[in-house]
Amino acid sequence: MKYKIFKNKEQASKYVSDLIVKSITQKPNLNLGLATGSTPILTYDFLTQAFENENVDFKNVKTFNLDEYKDLKIENKNSYHFFMNKYLFSKVNININNTFFPKSNFNYDEFIQKNGGIDLQILGIGQNGHIGFNEPGSKKNSKTRIVDLTKSTIKANAKHFQDESEVPIQAYSMGLETIFKAKKIILLAFGNSKKEIIKELKKIDEFSENIPASILYEHKDVTIILDEEANSDL
Ligand code: GLP
Repeated sequence: MKYKIFKNKEQASKYVSDLIVKSITQKPNLNLGLATGSTPILTYDFLTQAFENENVDFKNVKTFNLDEYKDLKIENKNSYHFFMNKYLFSKVNININNTFFPKSNFNYDEFIQKNGGIDLQILGIGQNGHIGFNEPGSKKNSKTRIVDLTKSTIKANAKHFQDESEVPIQAYSMGLETIFKAKKIILLAFGNSKKEIIKELKKIDEFSENIPASILYEHKDVTIILDEEANSDL
């Protein structure tokens, strides 16, 4: 697991956007795994700029989002569908029919593999170490499924809703095994609020169910991208 530390989240996000652009240039039909949350927003802004200024072509790119709230309509402004449309899909020439999310009655894992698997997976991290919505206690071999959100995740995500009581209590999430199958993984963590979990992640060197992101230790191509604030060594 490699760490790359950047002075600020702008520089870090530019690096990640450049990497995605390079991957699309090398493989125009890239299978790209995407994350939501505040962390990847700047990366999506840089990708939009790259589309406008560097003619990056998303026409044949397929995207696979990590997760989606259960019991929220996709038109709801807090849904991850809405988020992706707002920050990326409506701004680039992606074919909306090539954008996928976990949902009910859909064998997402099989679907991803039938499409050739994820080439590059972008991840954020929750303050409790979750990736996607794989909360502490998630099994290493977990598949895409409905998960119960923990109180701390509901509290952390309440900032996007008018009231904490509006935050859904369940979500669809790729499993840890689903994420692990991606060929290359980039995890982003920015700001002071992620410093503690990054410190915890560095303390261990094997998978622990308490910190779902620790599954990444066993993967052969993972880069953790931090800004200086999230870097616990400082
Ligand atoms: C949500 C998402 C995660 C994301 C996390 C961190 O819970 N399901 O995929 O990584 O939030 O969010 P933020 O980037 O806003 O800190």
